[in-house]
Amino acid sequence: EKGGYDHFMLKEIYEQPSVIRDTYRGRLLANEGIIKLGGLEEYIPKFINADRIIIVACGTSWHAGLVAEYIFEDWARIPVEVEYASEFRYRNPIITEKDVVIAISQSGETADTLAAIKLAKEKGAFVYGICNVVGSTISRETHSGTYTHAGPEIGVASTKAFTTQITVLTMIALKLAQIKGTISKSNYMMHLRELEQIPNHVEEALKSNDKIKEIAEVFKDASNFLYLGRGYNFPVALEGALKLKEISYIHAEGYPAAEMKHGPIALIDENMPVVVIAINSNHYDKVVSNIQEIKSRKGVIIAVVTKGDTVVREMADYIMEVPNTPETLTPLVTTIPLQLLSYHIAVMLNRNVDQPRNLAKSVTVE
Ligand code: F6R
Repeated sequence: EKGGYDHFMLKEIYEQPSVIRDTYRGRLLANEGIIKLGGLEEYIPKFINADRIIIVACGTSWHAGLVAEYIFEDWARIPVEVEYASEFRYRNPIITEKDVVIAISQSGETADTLAAIKLAKEKGAFVYGICNVVGSTISRETHSGTYTHAGPEIGVASTKAFTTQITVLTMIALKLAQIKGTISKSNYMMHLRELEQIPNHVEEALKSNDKIKEIAEVFKDASNFLYLGRGYNFPVALEGALKLKEISYIHAEGYPAAEMKHGPIALIDENMPVVVIAINSNHYDKVVSNIQEIKSRKGVIIAVVTKGDTVVREMADYIMEVPNTPETLTPLVTTIPLQLLSYHIAVMLNRNVDQPRNLAKSVTVE
């Protein structure tokens, strides 16, 4: 049932082009300029009139929430807060009927996320769910929601759930922005078309697999990794680090690249691999100077770059290429090489990739 792959995780990584397509199929009509999400339509006024959106989730789903914060604020101009469900539920949070809460959960069974939803409902907030498992507790406890169509995710390390969650959140943000008029018509249309191209771009990114395997071979014995990104790719850095630690048991930390000089730079030496997401973006020059800072301290750079990049290619020790796509959509492609890197390192270290020690697929206890 692994479809010829050695592990479910690898199968699920490779399924991403098709499940991202499944997730937008029938919901995104790029030529017509239409986004239609059944669960959303009648609640659009709730979102548009909300004082703010509070996103609650755990782990990888929380990282998808962070990406959504950037997208929603940029396009839909609605203030967004992203909270770990476990912190939110225990800190007497301020929630009112004017808040919209989005709960993100692959399994739909995560205990802390469920408790956060119950609390938000008690306080009168409207709660929207983004779940993968159909009929799961969270999908039933929320007022409405949108399913990701990732299909069963068996590997404990979440991969296709993450990219499909971002796909759904991107569609919601585009829809709200279009109705609010906070995105120009041309920008809206362009992003619809580009979102439709994402499965092809992911396919392309997967073609670097052999190259990434070689990089994994070089770094499999490192005992620490740093992951850096800015803007939309800061959460991707966090996700890359989480993926590595959970399946390879190598310590890894994700940071916003600019925060490095406020502490983590002290860790840099010739034994510290630094994975930097350095794709075409508004932050490109800033990321380039972060790379220079690391190089001048003998750090080793593995950079995720846009295809055709020349500047970072010169500076980095190793590169992993991804196709060009508008900045807002880049997390959907930059995530791919980081998933593969963790996967190969874990396999080389003989880890139990699909069922890492101490972890469970759904965390139904707090
Ligand atoms: C990471 C991972 C966990 C889950 C987290 C939330 O690969 O699998 O961090 O993302 O336990 O799970 P869901 O999304 O089911 O609520």
